[in-house]
Amino acid sequence: MLKIAPSILSADFACLGSEIDEIKNAGADYVHFDVMDGAFVPNISVGIPVLKSIRKSTDMFIDVHLMIERPVRYVKQFCSAGADLVNFHVEADSRENIMEAISIAKSMGKKTGITLKPATGVQEALPFLKDVDMVLVMTVEPGFGGQSFMRQQLPKIEQLRKMIDELNPRCELEVDGGVDEDTAALCKKAGADVLVAGSAVFGKADRAAAIKAIREA
Ligand code: DX5
Ligand code: ZN
Repeated sequence: MLKIAPSILSADFACLGSEIDEIKNAGADYVHFDVMDGAFVPNISVGIPVLKSIRKSTDMFIDVHLMIERPVRYVKQFCSAGADLVNFHVEADSRENIMEAISIAKSMGKKTGITLKPATGVQEALPFLKDVDMVLVMTVEPGFGGQSFMRQQLPKIEQLRKMIDELNPRCELEVDGGVDEDTAALCKKAGADVLVAGSAVFGKADRAAAIKAIREA
């Protein structure tokens, strides 16, 4: 069954704890935690102290999406703060340093993922594919919630599905950006395992209905 990971970027930060309880009760699988540094992407969101607070208030699986430059500098802190899985953008540093970040997270008992921006080709995932638990495909330019789904990313999702099935079948394929009950069907057909949805979940009054609609798209 398709997993749903609501992105807290579209939640009400004044009551984040209850927002997360609500998506848990509504059947969400993961909490998607978007970290932005104002350098790798043109926006700033939340970081380590907020992750720590959330970790204390929920037992949900937290999928941390690091949209920061040279994430190897902060991987330890995000792991200690309570991430269950840390996603690193392949564009954020050299191959060696991304590899190093992955091995630090693993040594701390965490799951790991690599993320591709829309302009990044599938071959950039190859060097990491056997070592990670997730590949995340961006279907918007990272930085902001509420953007439109880029349909031209669908062939990339299909290609990655094939690569994952061949090289590391336990790895999950996640899609992030512009996912709603309409575009979810396209992602599912292309082979996604996990769908991130920000505005399509937190923007709706009935979160359970929103999650169900995306899952059953
Ligand atoms: C964008 C973030 C996404 C974003 C998704 O940079 O990585 O997780 O919050 O938001 P929606 O679902 O509204 O496109
Ligand atoms: Zn994200």
